[in-house]
Amino acid sequence: MCGIMGFSGNLKKEQESSVDVVLNGLKSLEYRGYDSSGIAYYDNDDRVIKYIKKSGKLTNLSNEFSCITPLNSDAAIGHIRWATHGRPTDENAHPHIDCTGDIAIVHNGIIENYVVLKNKLIKKGHKFTTETDSEVIAHLIEDYINNGKSFYEAVRLSSLELLGAFAILALNAGEKSIAAVKFGPPLVLAQKDNNIYVASDISPLIEYTNDVIYLKNSEIAYFHYGNLEITTFKGKKINKTTTKIDWDASRAAKSGFSHFMQKEIYEQPARLLDAFSSRVMYNDGMKDNVVNINKIKIQRNALGSNENTQNSFNEVFAGAGLKISLEGLKLTKNDVLNSSKIVFIACGSSYYASLAIKYMMEMICGLPVIVGYGSEFRYENFPVSQNDIFVGISQSGETADTNSALEVAKAKRAKILSITNVPGSQITGLSNKGVIYTHAGPEIGVASTKAFTTQLLCGLLLALYIREKSGFIPQYRWFNSQNIFKDLVELPKKMEKILFIDETLKDIAKKYYKSSNFLYLGRGILYPIALEGALKLKEISYIHAEGYPAGEMKHGPIALVDENMPVLFLLSNNMLASKTISNIEEIKARGGRIIAVADYEPEIDGLSDLIRIPETLEVLSPILYTLPLQLFAYHIAALKGTDIDQPRNLAKSVTVE
Ligand code: F6R
Repeated sequence: MCGIMGFSGNLKKEQESSVDVVLNGLKSLEYRGYDSSGIAYYDNDDRVIKYIKKSGKLTNLSNEFSCITPLNSDAAIGHIRWATHGRPTDENAHPHIDCTGDIAIVHNGIIENYVVLKNKLIKKGHKFTTETDSEVIAHLIEDYINNGKSFYEAVRLSSLELLGAFAILALNAGEKSIAAVKFGPPLVLAQKDNNIYVASDISPLIEYTNDVIYLKNSEIAYFHYGNLEITTFKGKKINKTTTKIDWDASRAAKSGFSHFMQKEIYEQPARLLDAFSSRVMYNDGMKDNVVNINKIKIQRNALGSNENTQNSFNEVFAGAGLKISLEGLKLTKNDVLNSSKIVFIACGSSYYASLAIKYMMEMICGLPVIVGYGSEFRYENFPVSQNDIFVGISQSGETADTNSALEVAKAKRAKILSITNVPGSQITGLSNKGVIYTHAGPEIGVASTKAFTTQLLCGLLLALYIREKSGFIPQYRWFNSQNIFKDLVELPKKMEKILFIDETLKDIAKKYYKSSNFLYLGRGILYPIALEGALKLKEISYIHAEGYPAGEMKHGPIALVDENMPVLFLLSNNMLASKTISNIEEIKARGGRIIAVADYEPEIDGLSDLIRIPETLEVLSPILYTLPLQLFAYHIAALKGTDIDQPRNLAKSVTVE
């Protein structure tokens, strides 16, 4: 949790200072925590470190700084906080300063041995002023400097003493330099000319450059102006390579939408295309080629606009034998054939995506799949063998619960792969069998939307890939790449059709936004989507909502239903349709108000509201059903006037257990 940003450089633009750069960066990181913030900067005129820290949103901090511009400063570090140790007060906000005022630090993570260190330092005369675990870092560095060490050495030796998880930026007045330390939470560096930037993730950096350097655990970057040196905690110098990021800075802006969440919901058709278009190949008899989605459209037009894509698809690729290509995945045929089980590990929405992917995998590959919460799995006595394939799913790639659980599996020599949105994130380093990137681009809204639907898509591609590798033909013979891809190419358009009914969803939201409780019910592959829909509503509107398997209602929760309870059903025209309709009747009989999201016109009387969405293959249906639920939650929250992009108590990446 928390976000940190640092800058040291030579700013040419008049009136721009390091504080502007850091403040601007913190805006992109605000999704990581927003209960307080602060910046420490080196004042070039007075030659001292100064700082401001404020509880509440980042605007409180920028208002304070707006009163003291113009500032003359070339180096600054900043922090945006999601409180763990110590209340979110002005005092407990970062930066933390040592006794001399020459060292300022910001920290993301937890220092587990802070009590021991603090007591030791207090005995030596250090004065502490906050309730946080982080303050100990500033005093520890100071203590080493008092003992004759250079700033870099003091930071290095302090890093060796700290236990827990930490990404630290330390600013030093004497050398006007910054040290960035990574052990656990992420840190990414970027250099442009004589300017060096460091941040918790790439979103504040892509404005300046797309070439970044990921620090690994136990590494320290030490820099001032354009001079950058990276070493290990043992002091060994290392040369790091830069990674090119394909994220576009404009994607991190609201672009006319009222909220990031709304924009990210609307981006989904395009992001879905990004996620699959380069990953489906066909063989023209000579070699494998990437399927060109545009070619399918061109053929369709040539055939006449009334032809559907499936006809043109057959024209273009008849018998071509589609293959899934997942760049960077190192899962071999033997890995798949020898695997005893596939285990998905994730948290929150990513856990619900994993649950839906379980259904996809079982339909497509016929392999048993187990899904575990990161926070639970780590402490279970779950038998892990070296033949197991573990798949971690995480938008941020930083979720401590997920990553710790994968570390447990890895220690037992299981094969690890991951599905993530963030290049170079911690989960990628754990994945000895490779990474599938969701290509969703920066997701700023705290409630996951486009990351979730692209995770579903990547899970589907993984299932097809595993099926190709293994040659398994489960009972669903029909579910091969060829047939699924025919429907997949239609999916972005069908998603757009759902976005077209946004106004209808808003009208429906107006009828329900005063409700205090909701039930979301679904069956089979749509049950995880009921869970996700309920989570979206809870997170951003603060209305209590429960996701449940529709068939389980009668075993207890039906007691909750009365005329005040809106019940949202996910209804699909599949073999479970009649059973779900029976469940609807059970709710109707108890007076519940029923909203149905359906891909056909169900013959049921007494529905309060019907949300019609396009039909697709059952295995793809989770992607389509998610959209109306996101929009519904969004409109309810907007009507209630909650803070949609930064809901209370939440942070986007949960880097503590
Ligand atoms: C829900 C949400 C959270 C995350 C969860 C895992 O909208 O965003 O539930 O899904 O914290 O985060 P990642 O996917 O980054 O591991």
